This record gives sequence, structure tokens and C-alpha cells, in this order.
Amino acid sequence: MCGIVGYIGNKPVYPILINGLKRLEYRGYDSAGVAILGGEPKIYKRKGKVSELDEFAQGQDVEGTIGMGHTRWATHGEPNDVNAHPHMSQNGHFVLIHNGIIENYARIKRYLEHKGYVFQSETDTEVLVNLIEYVYIRGQVSIEVAVRYALSKVVGAYGLVIASPLMPDTLVAARKGSPLVIGIGDGEYFIASDATPIVEHTKSVIYLNNDNVAIIRRGELSLRTIDNDRLEPEVQTLDLGIGDIDKGGYDHFMLKEIFEQPRSIQDTFRGRVSAKHDDIRLGGLHHVMPKLLAAKRFIIIGCGTSWHAGLLGEYLFEQYARVPVEVEYASEFRYRDPLIFADDIIIAISQSGETADTLAAIQLAKKAGATVLGITNVVGSSIPRETDAGVYTHAGPEIGVASTKAFTAQVTVLTMMALMLGRRNGSLSQKDYELNIQELVQVPDKIERILQHNDLFRDIAARYKDSQNFLYLGRGFFFPVALEGALKLKEISYIHAEGYPAAEMKHGPIALIDENMPVVVIASRDKSYEKIVSNIQEVKARKGIVVAVVTEGDTIIREMADHVMEVPHTEPAMAPLLAVVPLQLLSYHIAVMRGCNVDQPRNLAKSVTVE
Ligand code: G6P
Repeated sequence: MCGIVGYIGNKPVYPILINGLKRLEYRGYDSAGVAILGGEPKIYKRKGKVSELDEFAQGQDVEGTIGMGHTRWATHGEPNDVNAHPHMSQNGHFVLIHNGIIENYARIKRYLEHKGYVFQSETDTEVLVNLIEYVYIRGQVSIEVAVRYALSKVVGAYGLVIASPLMPDTLVAARKGSPLVIGIGDGEYFIASDATPIVEHTKSVIYLNNDNVAIIRRGELSLRTIDNDRLEPEVQTLDLGIGDIDKGGYDHFMLKEIFEQPRSIQDTFRGRVSAKHDDIRLGGLHHVMPKLLAAKRFIIIGCGTSWHAGLLGEYLFEQYARVPVEVEYASEFRYRDPLIFADDIIIAISQSGETADTLAAIQLAKKAGATVLGITNVVGSSIPRETDAGVYTHAGPEIGVASTKAFTAQVTVLTMMALMLGRRNGSLSQKDYELNIQELVQVPDKIERILQHNDLFRDIAARYKDSQNFLYLGRGFFFPVALEGALKLKEISYIHAEGYPAAEMKHGPIALIDENMPVVVIASRDKSYEKIVSNIQEVKARKGIVVAVVTEGDTIIREMADHVMEVPHTEPAMAPLLAVVPLQLLSYHIAVMRGCNVDQPRNLAKSVTVE
């Protein structure tokens, strides 16, 4: 997803912009550009990586102390040099970088063409910068007024930074729907689409709210609404360290994040599980507890990996709290005219807290009067602000595009919620509650044990790295894990993979099985163990290759399967948290061996802020 970085101060701006763009690479992008401002704008942009832009800009004039940079993830118009940002208006009065989508851009473009504007790119951003210029020239108003007026005519979402050579010491930043954060340094300001480019410079930040416009001059910032009402900026302190966004000695962010899971899961339950391990308290849900206990139905919404966590949430809530749950893809839910009742509880799950479809589904649920909760990783992102209550996952920044530690953190929160609700509504005895909590706190150590088998997982990966298709099978709690395992593989290695409920295999996928088809079966011990053993036999009878995730000490499956990946024994609620780890590592190694860009897979974005 697109990334923004801006700077105004006394230091050379170019290195700040390029480093900032590198920090934003994790979001996924296809082209990048910078504008050095302060006099006549110098704009350099390139399709491809930030390093290619840097190579191109070296040797050119990059002198200056004000500027903006952008990584673009194409929505309107293919990835190329021309469509890359920044965009300059026709008469050179304005330069703009923009995240989000201007929905009524086609109508505005036609209008401007009629007025003599000629467009170089296919982007909605070039339409917006020319609209601002048109308002400025035609309305004979100040630059600030032109920006605010033009933005009031725009339908859609934006996080943007705009500058003008007519007002050389100023940057204007505005937000509607697409996040922006401003870092306050010593006589200098940083602007970014998230805090990662800022954290190495300052910890003092201001998060812009929707319809906020910030006018930033050297050493001075004023904040207004789009209707020009003055606002008092609320300065917050970032709790993100530079170590949090570095690879920390690992080859890839994804590997680092997989190995961080013992700590990140601990961070998720830290302070929420009582010292005696006899209770779970989720402070963010405290004031809505009566509603949660009275609810007739929960609806969980999310996209991608967060949806998989949601599916697991359904199984956990139904099993431990005995309440009906529906799980919905946010994008389907919002367009289906769904039945939502005022006593429904909606749980929106999102790592980034910015996914456009999830946000839109939240709005729909709010309109219907339902209570909306968020399970989010990014503090201060849009979803926690839009919801009535919620729980942060506290997994720390996730940079790899393929989600790993955020998934296990989401599942940890859902497990805690299911157990807590089950105990509070009487479905779960105190004895079983405590047993589960005691198991939960042991999960980090058990994951450490799984991580020690990394070399074995790499060896298995080496054998099957050239396979064209994979099938992932699981039953009960392990079905969502099978889906997540398959998604990880296709996301980063580009191998076709499908997750299936193991018993459904007979109704279709079994036709695919032959001696070239690895079938990953999640078979750690639970009540469906005998049945999954039968499924393994069905695969073997058709000469399929079985890679099984089993409980430590399982000798039955070891004899049948081609390879086993062991996980420690635990209670059923915690088993998915363990079983997913070998699958993450299997995908990781396969992708590395195939030479794929693990942290930034092609066509994918970390945070999808467009519909
Ligand atoms: C993108 C990412 C996925 C993520 C999904 C939902 O597709 O590549 O990893 O699961 O968005 O994102 P969210 O931030 O809402 O969890």
C-alpha cells in the first residue's frame, strides 16, 4: 500500500526521504518518487524499488531542506514512471503525493479537461493536484483556501502532502480515511503514513484525524479542520523503538517475526492474565461486558489472515462460551445488505487497523446500532478509533507482508475472549478455565521448542520447493490453521495451495492427489485424531506425499507419513497457536529457496486501504 514521507527543517532532506521510503517498503509498492522543494520543485520518480530511485537520483540535484517522498501501489493506472508520485499541476504551482482513492476523479477530470487541462498520467492524484491549482487560479484565493475548498469537493479517501513553490517554506498535510502522522523534532517536522520513518528521528507525534488539515512551516504547525476551525494538536509519545523495525540479525522480517512469537504472544496476554492464573481481564472490554454477556450473536469480520483468525474465533467462542458466531469477509458483508441487529456484537479483526473493507463494514454495523469491538495491532489506527471497545494485540510492528506474529496474537486475544466469556456466562467451569489459562501461559515456551526444529522444516522445504500444488488439511480448530498454512505458501512462494477441511477432501481435492502432490495434514492429538489418521491413509492409498504436523511422541502417524513436524502437547484451545508455526516456517523456507521476495511478495500490500 502507498507510503508517504515528508520533511521540513534544516537538515538535508534527500537522505531523510530515501531512508523514510526504505522504512515504508514493507507496505508493498511498485514505484517510488521524491520531490525536493523550497525553490523550483525537483522531482525524481521511478518504477521499481526505492534503491532504483536512489540510483537514479544520485548525481542529480538533491540539495534542499524541504521535501516529500512516496511509494506507490497502483490503483489508477499501471505502475510506471509517469504514474508514480509526486505529481505536479499543469502550471507548476503545486506538487502532491497522495494515498487513497479519489472516487469522483473521472468527473473532475472531464471538467478540468474542458477547462484546458491536459493530463500526463492516468492517476486520480494528478486530477486532484490540478483541481487544487484550478481553484487557486480561478478563485484567486490563498493556497490554504484552495486546498481546503478542493478537498471539500472530493469524494473518497486521502492522506496527502501538498506544497507550492509560491509558498516555498510550507508543507500542507491532510487526512480523510488514509492515516497520517506528524513527527515533531527540534525545529523540524516529519510527515508519514505511519510512524516507521519517523521513529529514528523523534518520539513526539501528532496523529491526524479525518478532515484535519495541518499547515507546517519551519518550526511552526497549525492544525485546522477542513472547515477552517482551529484545533489544538494532541502530542503523543511513540512507544515504537528503532529495534522494533529492524531485521535484528535475521535474513528477512518474516523470519524475525516468526521467531518473535514466543515474546509477542507473551506481550499479548501480559497484564491480562492474573498472577494466580485463575482469571483473564481485558480492560478494553470492561465497559461493554454486560452487553457481551447479553449478546445473542457475535459477527466476526476481517480480511485475509485476519479472517482466518476470525474463523478460529468462531470455533473457540462456540466451544467455550457457547454463543452463536458468524464469520464474514468484510468485503462480502458490507455489500450484501446483511441482517444486523442492535444486540449483535461485531468483532472487527485487523492487524493494520486500516483495511478499507473492514472499516466500511464497521460503519455499516454502527449504523445498525450494533456494538462494535476491534482487535487491532496498530495502536492509534482507524479501527480502534471507530469502534466502541476493543483489545490491542500488542504484537509489535509487523513488517513482512505475510502476516505471522499478528495472526498468533489475534488468535491469542480471541482465545482469551472465548475463555473469559465462557467463564463469565457459566459455560466454562472455574477448573477448566484455570486449566486453559495455565496452558495459555506455557504457549511461548512451547513455541520456543518448535522453533528449535527449524533446520528440519528447512530440509522438508528443500524436498518440495519445486512442487506446483500443495493441499493443506485439518479438522475442527485445525481447519482454519490449514487455510492459513495454504495462504502463507501461496502469498510468498507463488505455489498454488489450498486449505480444506480434511473430511471434505473426498468431495473434490482427492482427485488431485498423486505422487507429486504434497499434502500437509495437521494431525496433532485432539478428539478428531482417529478420523484424521483415516484421511492420511486415504492420501497414502493414492500415493500422495504426507507432511504431518503431529503431537510430540506420536508414533502412529510417524509410521504413515513421509515427514512429521512435531509440536508439544497442549489443550485444544491452544493447539492452533502451536500448529501454525511449522507451517509458517515451511512456507518461508520454500519461498527463500525459490528466490522469492519473502518480505514484499509481488502484487501484495501490507495494508489494503482501498476497496
Ligand atoms: C492484506 C495483507 C494480509 C492481511 C490482510 C488484512 O491482504 O497482505 O496479510 O491479512 O491485508 O489486513 P489487516 O491489516 O486488516 O489484518
